[in-house]
Amino acid sequence: MQFFKKILLIVMSAQLITSCANNSSKNETNAQVQSNKIHWGMLDGKEVFLYTLKNKLGSQVHISNYGGIVTSLETADNKGQISNVVLGFDSLKQYLNNPPYFGAIVGRYANRIAKSQFKIDDHAYKLAVNNGENHLHGGLKGFDKVVWDGTLIEDSIPRLVLKYVSKDGEEGYPGNLSVTVDYTLNEENELKINYHATTDKITPVNLTNHSYFNLSGDFSTTILNHSLQINASKYTPVDNGLIPTGELKMLANSPFDFLIPHLIGERIDAVYGGYDHNFVIDRVDGNIQRVAALSDTASGRTLEVFSTEPGLQFYSGNFLDGTILSREGKPINQHAALCLETQHFPNSPNQSNFPSVLLKPGEQYQSTTIYKISAY
Ligand code: GLA
Repeated sequence: MQFFKKILLIVMSAQLITSCANNSSKNETNAQVQSNKIHWGMLDGKEVFLYTLKNKLGSQVHISNYGGIVTSLETADNKGQISNVVLGFDSLKQYLNNPPYFGAIVGRYANRIAKSQFKIDDHAYKLAVNNGENHLHGGLKGFDKVVWDGTLIEDSIPRLVLKYVSKDGEEGYPGNLSVTVDYTLNEENELKINYHATTDKITPVNLTNHSYFNLSGDFSTTILNHSLQINASKYTPVDNGLIPTGELKMLANSPFDFLIPHLIGERIDAVYGGYDHNFVIDRVDGNIQRVAALSDTASGRTLEVFSTEPGLQFYSGNFLDGTILSREGKPINQHAALCLETQHFPNSPNQSNFPSVLLKPGEQYQSTTIYKISAY
């Protein structure tokens, strides 16, 4: 009898080991289904990858550790047809010349700083000049052009964590700034971006993502037929160099009034050069709240933007001029896509009446943006 008990015990143990192995491989399979990475190239002596995050709705987002660039965001329309809704390319090489900042993390300071300079406690700082006399999007080699250290975290909701240390003096900024940006794509179809930074010297910081959206998924069309709503009663008018004058101007009954939804093409001709303006979000505190909603009737897709930030740059793709070809090989023309860049206001280091952008040693820079896409 002892012999048979031993045999039974060995058989049961073997079954237990097999089922554990199957479960772990199943878990791995689930994790693999929801995230993976491929080698994309080498740059600045570092390996560049293309990461994929997926959710169970069938949506997926591709992100590179080069510039933290979102290269594609694929999601269903109201007929269940999945297509990509952001401008991007399929190779690292194509991103090495990316004047429009397609999909990129932008910083140390997103948007413009007038005359490429600012003062802190009477100390004058001179930044790289890369947009006329002004400094734009972190300078000649901003955060969009560096290789971040990427880590794929296989949580229940996979997360891509990107880290970069911007050295003291980089592009003229003071202080060693340690930055972490993490991306998740959850089961509510939200692409969530958390930004975090600390510094060892006081410095301005303003981080954003520069994805260009066309909810139809067809970049040979324009976004002029998209409907836009922005929770803002004021905006910051700009001069010819797109530097805010400092005024927080009421926008009621003007072409900037998107408190109720309007088609983007309805009044764009009344806005010199097209929309490229910072909207002052109506908010009671710094908590995350919905700041904008964009929708495309044909596809039934709606993009809701949630943010902790005081401003939103609505840029209607004015400088897209057909000289850059899309991944489908077609010219990317003016207004083929738009940006909704959550941010602090442009030129805040020189505008004391704007919310402060200064980060001090011992403080934590925290910012969250959610791009949520639904289809009805
Ligand atoms: C931001 C600016 C625009 C333009 C784009 C990049 O959206 O507001 O003026 O510089 O970046 O092309």
